[in-house]
Amino acid sequence: MAKMILSGKGRRWALTGHPWVYADDVAEGKAQPGELISVAGPNNDHLGWALFSTSSRIALRFVTRAEEQPNREFWLGLVQRAIKVRADAGFLDPEGACRLLSGDADGLPGFVADRYGTVLVLQCGTQGADRMRDFLIELVREALPFPLTAVVDRSDTSVRRFENLESNVETLDGTVDEAVLVRDGDLQYEVDIFQGHKTGHYLDQATNRIRAARGAEGKRVLDAFSYDGLFGIRAALAGAESVLCLEQNEASGQRLLRNAELNGVADRVTVEKTNCMKALRAKAEEGDRYGLVIIDPPAFARNRREIEGAERGYVELNRRGVALCEPGGRLVTASCSYNVRPEDFADFLTKAINLSGREAWLEELTGSSLDHPHRITLPETQYLKCAFLRVG
Ligand SMILES: C[S@@+](CC[C@H](N)C(=O)[O-])C[C@H]1O[C@@H](n2cnc3c(N)ncnc32)[C@H](O)[C@@H]1O
Repeated sequence: MAKMILSGKGRRWALTGHPWVYADDVAEGKAQPGELISVAGPNNDHLGWALFSTSSRIALRFVTRAEEQPNREFWLGLVQRAIKVRADAGFLDPEGACRLLSGDADGLPGFVADRYGTVLVLQCGTQGADRMRDFLIELVREALPFPLTAVVDRSDTSVRRFENLESNVETLDGTVDEAVLVRDGDLQYEVDIFQGHKTGHYLDQATNRIRAARGAEGKRVLDAFSYDGLFGIRAALAGAESVLCLEQNEASGQRLLRNAELNGVADRVTVEKTNCMKALRAKAEEGDRYGLVIIDPPAFARNRREIEGAERGYVELNRRGVALCEPGGRLVTASCSYNVRPEDFADFLTKAINLSGREAWLEELTGSSLDHPHRITLPETQYLKCAFLRVG
């Protein structure tokens, strides 16, 4: 069994509880890509067990600080615990969808498993996750209270390049229709598992969509960066007078229209294929007003160095979002950049509100749905911020 020795600095960092160790903090040791190894400090004091990467800046990802080497029972326990968390939070309806395993947040480095009905879609982001993939699928099958009909590997995430891994998309088991149909309470939607963003869908916003739809009855709604339209369609189901979705991606817009049909709200939901940055400014300048405005852009800061550019983007978008709200209207605005911390986001929103010349009240600042746990020792797992503002 391979072993790695950390530097003194590496040891001190490991003892903070953060599960990642950077390559610079490894003093000695050799191992295979993705191998489970034992980790020790410079005095050979055992620090735990971690999965190793030969090429990433994050060389080690701890899976346990215990003495004993993780065995099958250990891994099954992690998978069972993760699935129980989803069951307790009401995410385990076999017709519904959820993130079953959320990588390092659930103690399973780099391994994401999303469930759309009975179809499991995996995304491996590390060498260790690739190595453990088939074993973890077996454990998911064992722990889930219902059978899976298909398993797809959607490992085409860009982070794989840091691990020197090729992109890999394949159906591992069963057959999957082009569009998988999901039912979430009174909402139905299509998921494009092979071409859609992430593993096909933005599962992390599920609870925020339900919150946003409250009070949408009778309102004009603007859903910017709509993807396949589920913020807007939720609002339409709650009785919105009309919903205008803005999205630049053609395939997402087409799926959005099919989702509107599926939910019987096609007469009140329209989509404009457009660049939201320009469209929001134009609509605000034209004096367009809405009772509910949703802004859910892609990540603007991939690292801390990009924060200035990100600030300009968020301030500009939210300034327009505030202007587009009728007096008493609501702005629901999100940031999914981990590098934009909650306090940065609050600062950007304050600047946007000042520039708009309006007043606003923060009713809630939420994160992702409970199937995307925020592990306290790993701040990187708190990436999504969603502010619910009442605009005066
Ligand atoms: C975070 S996702 C939105 C998720 C969506 N609100 C949901 O609830 O599933 C961001 C979306 O913005 C789209 N997008 C990115 N840049 C854009 C732009 N400048 N104008 C319009 N859409 C854009 C992407 O295609 C993607 O669908």
